[in-house]
Amino acid sequence: MSLSPSGPLTDAFGPNATMELVHPAAPGPMPWWRSAVVYEIYPRSFADADGDGVGDLTGVRAHLDHLAHLGVDAIWLNPFYVSGWVDGGFDVIDHRAVDPRLGTIADFDAVIYKAHDVGLKVIIDLVPNHTSDRHPWFQAAIAAGPDSPQAGLYVVRPGRGAHGELPPNQWKSKFGGSAWTRFPGNATDPVHWYLHLFDVHQPDLNWQNPLVRAEYISIMRFWLERGVDGFRVDNAHALIKADGLPNEAPDWVSPVGNPAAAEAAEHAMRRGERDAPLSAPRRDVGPQWDQELVHEVYREWRTVIEEYPGERILVGEAWVSPPERLARYVRSDEMNQAFNFEFLAAGWNAPDLRTAIAGTVEALDAVDAPATWVLSNHDVIRHLTRLSLPPDQAWAGGLDPNQRMPEPAAALRRARAATLLMLALPGAAYVYQGEELGLPEDASLPENALEDPTWRRSGFTVRGRDGARVPLPWVADAPNFGFSTARVPWLPLPPGWRDLAADRQRSVPGSTYETYRAALWLRRRLELGTGSLARLHGLSGLPSESVLAFVNRTTLVVANLGTDPLRLPSGLMVLHASSDLPLADDDAVLVPPDTTVWIDLA
Ligand code: GLC
Repeated sequence: MSLSPSGPLTDAFGPNATMELVHPAAPGPMPWWRSAVVYEIYPRSFADADGDGVGDLTGVRAHLDHLAHLGVDAIWLNPFYVSGWVDGGFDVIDHRAVDPRLGTIADFDAVIYKAHDVGLKVIIDLVPNHTSDRHPWFQAAIAAGPDSPQAGLYVVRPGRGAHGELPPNQWKSKFGGSAWTRFPGNATDPVHWYLHLFDVHQPDLNWQNPLVRAEYISIMRFWLERGVDGFRVDNAHALIKADGLPNEAPDWVSPVGNPAAAEAAEHAMRRGERDAPLSAPRRDVGPQWDQELVHEVYREWRTVIEEYPGERILVGEAWVSPPERLARYVRSDEMNQAFNFEFLAAGWNAPDLRTAIAGTVEALDAVDAPATWVLSNHDVIRHLTRLSLPPDQAWAGGLDPNQRMPEPAAALRRARAATLLMLALPGAAYVYQGEELGLPEDASLPENALEDPTWRRSGFTVRGRDGARVPLPWVADAPNFGFSTARVPWLPLPPGWRDLAADRQRSVPGSTYETYRAALWLRRRLELGTGSLARLHGLSGLPSESVLAFVNRTTLVVANLGTDPLRLPSGLMVLHASSDLPLADDDAVLVPPDTTVWIDLA
């Protein structure tokens, strides 16, 4: 649909300037989650209140005012449950209890209470694909043997070969190596194996078993009754495996028909990426992922959360592609949102970002779901660093001290430009703790500090995700920059982070923190989250290879991804910019490279 542009656009860019509406603004008030900005908290690294070197729930509570002041709408808490801590809490031993290192259930209740009091919703992680191997269910399975009903809660199979000495198939763990480990306990003939798509300490549950389904509904009710506003569903696309657990071959085609995904798998395979660690930007394709029956699970969950008052939500983590596949997870009777990794993986490149944005919005509009936008999380290299690295390094699975790091000021500038672009898009946005302080990836961690299972399972070659999980600096002049009073926190903070500490940035005009805060305030005021998306055509002077421009409601957003400054016509009113704009001799707007501006067309 083409619209006649508003006066200021034609005045500024000439009579040929037109807008093409891709996504209309919401006609009226919408549920909170359709436009929310959600702040992801990795609790171990957020704030340590009890001085043991590990962040905790009381530390989270102590800083909720910081988040309310920043202007986000919700927090998403990564796992805080009793865990083996082999995979940063994603190996859960008890889904209904808080790990003593992170606090108590009373501390959790206090987080919810305070969050709601300051106007923040609370989303928590739910990890349904696997448990810890120390979970009572897996322990009972070991005690009862591989043919027992207890083992039937997991994916346990006899091996291949005369005595089952070979794993049941060739599936690989996302953290490296085989996805199968011999089932522990007494020797059996044939040998039995259990499946773990992730670490050996994370056995996959059998989602064809009704007891597993019932247990997760009960877990959800436990937390819904304590007041959580939603769940982020870990590996939502992994729960159901294809019947018969077939090997994946280069020509493997999904039984639900997905030629594009099959092609992506083939390319990945040819490039030898099938063994690549988790953080590679590939989407998951194969008989372990994105199976039709998984949608039954979410239909049932949706009916559960809707029994509770308030607008509670399900957010899926599903590394599937293309966006049409993702859209299937957010059909009106399934989840509310799913993370959009197309945008995250696009890199700093106008044509790719344009495709990712339009593709996402169109696919999600078809099912009336909001888009989500994310640049950083606890699994990928922080976007400040990643967007300034060559693609092969950006997705190498962690950086090491020999890595040539991008120049800090230039990388920060680019990261802020990307953030302002993201926050101007209609839909929900996810911000990862510390990006509001301009934290880079930390490549300097000593090897003996690394905890990511990728490090071990890759034979100590791929360092993994710890560089994105380094604790936050709160106070420049305190030990460990105010993260913890412990002598040594679980991961050390780099000495160079002093000037990034929150107290050095609050109320400082032009700091990254204040840039985020102003963007969040304006985003709310301009109603960008429930706003529109219009493509622009015929604008003179905006080269499409290096400039991304769109209109949301009455805000023109221009991101300069090129290497030359961009001169916008005079008379435009700049509402916000990701970095300082130089003065031009007339009153033209000069947008330097790696800068995003929001311009008022009203
Ligand atoms: C998800 C989490 C990641 C974890 C994995 C296994 O991808 O985000 O941190 O390692 O699931 O649970």
